[in-house]
Amino acid sequence: MENRRHLKCILICSLTAVTIIIIYLSEISEPFSAPLARKFSTSKSSVSSSAVDPGPYHVAYPRNYKFIMDETPTCKTTTPFLIVIIPVAPNEEATRNAIRNTWGKEKVVLDQLVETLFIIGLPGGHDAEQQQEKLKQENERHHDLIQSNFQDSYHNLTIKTMLMLEWLVQHCAEASFVLKVDSDVLLNVKNLVELLLDPNTAKQNYMTGLVWWHSPVLRNPFNKFYMPKYVIPESEYPPYPLGMAYVMSLDLPRKILDVSPQIKAIFIEDAYLGMCLKRLGISPTDPPEETMFLVNPQHPLSSCSLSKVIAVMTTDISQMQRYWWMIRRGARCPDLSGSQEHFGHRVSPLSIFGL
Ligand SMILES: *[C@@H]1O[C@H](CO)[C@@H](O)[C@H](O)[C@H]1NC(C)=O
Repeated sequence: MENRRHLKCILICSLTAVTIIIIYLSEISEPFSAPLARKFSTSKSSVSSSAVDPGPYHVAYPRNYKFIMDETPTCKTTTPFLIVIIPVAPNEEATRNAIRNTWGKEKVVLDQLVETLFIIGLPGGHDAEQQQEKLKQENERHHDLIQSNFQDSYHNLTIKTMLMLEWLVQHCAEASFVLKVDSDVLLNVKNLVELLLDPNTAKQNYMTGLVWWHSPVLRNPFNKFYMPKYVIPESEYPPYPLGMAYVMSLDLPRKILDVSPQIKAIFIEDAYLGMCLKRLGISPTDPPEETMFLVNPQHPLSSCSLSKVIAVMTTDISQMQRYWWMIRRGARCPDLSGSQEHFGHRVSPLSIFGL
């Protein structure tokens, strides 16, 4: 009995000590792994500084990445009003097909041309070559993949976003808006186009979505979005629309790219765009209705909710398809004046991090 209690105490004490050490080390002015990394990488010291691993919280951007798959006619032979770009992992073909067969196939909406593209990096793993071959075949069928030569990974999402902006600057100067949307999101294309056509919607310096005005910099080292003080000393990020779905006017990609070399890229892509916007002195805009961008709503959504939404996070492909069909068949609110349909509460963005 005594012994067991002793053991328990030792365990708890050492766990506490380790936690304190981790927190301490990550708060001090330099990542503790950096001196070690330097020690063991002297052979690489001749490589130009831009090629050095930027550490766990930054990503290697700006750098000269190339587009290795880029045969889409979009913006080359067409002038879309709205370009929708979806970052996906190379192996997510089923998701891409689901989008191609639902909201992704709505090409002319309210007389405006809408085109949908997917952006990917290099596949990894033991079957990378086969994956690449499959991607080529997929692109021969659909001509809607843009691929660049960086390693596709969650930690590299900021690189993907910045390359999306580079691609737009190179090809789509004539288009009006771009929407970046995650692959698990249902898009109500008509509502989006309607918003963008609205005379009250700015045509320049415009970025909207579910704007997070006071996003805390998370200091818990066990959180996926942990960010130590030596990287971001401020306690809040500048305001930014959540990465699940944001729209910008097509003057912004150029402007954001112009300031990005001054701001070291962090791996949280949406927060990084917020940092670039702040440097530009541009503020994101709240959407006119709270019901337009929904993150983690209470499912299932009613026909009424779906009729008001622009982008909503779904839990799986089949739910996304179901919702799209509901919209397609004519989602609407009950026509009884005075009746109040209960609308799923918009959840605080914090709740998606379990806070
Ligand atoms: C991100 O991409 C760069 C360039 O391809 C690569 O060197 C790095 O290893 C990638 N990082 C991760 C975590 O995949």
